[in-house]
Amino acid sequence: MTAKSRLNICTTCTSSIASAPSDPRDGQTLFERIQEVCATRDLPFEVKPVECLTNCKSGCSVALNGSGKWGYVYGNVDPDSMVEDLCELASKYAESEKGIVAWRERPDALRRNVIARIPPID
Ligand code: FES
Repeated sequence: MTAKSRLNICTTCTSSIASAPSDPRDGQTLFERIQEVCATRDLPFEVKPVECLTNCKSGCSVALNGSGKWGYVYGNVDPDSMVEDLCELASKYAESEKGIVAWRERPDALRRNVIARIPPID
């Protein structure tokens, strides 16, 4: 059985529009809100907190990865307005064979937020 793909959320991120670090960090808020959604739905991916994806100037940052799939780093994810969009994107990613979600199939709010993509090992 293949492991679920993963949505990694940087819990130490501050939103790119903030002038100072928030308390709690915006990334921690995003993680907790996604956890709340996942607790009520059977989503096809797992969620993991991580510390710093080296995309600090464009927080909140998240990374999608999975076995045999392209990895993607997304930035400028707003914990107040993009939780549903992020769940939709992570679900489509999980359901894709190689991790590629076509641009027009991505939620509107996240279409321009890709920071990097990383090739799969195999
Ligand atoms: S603190 Fe989130 S990417 Fe660095």
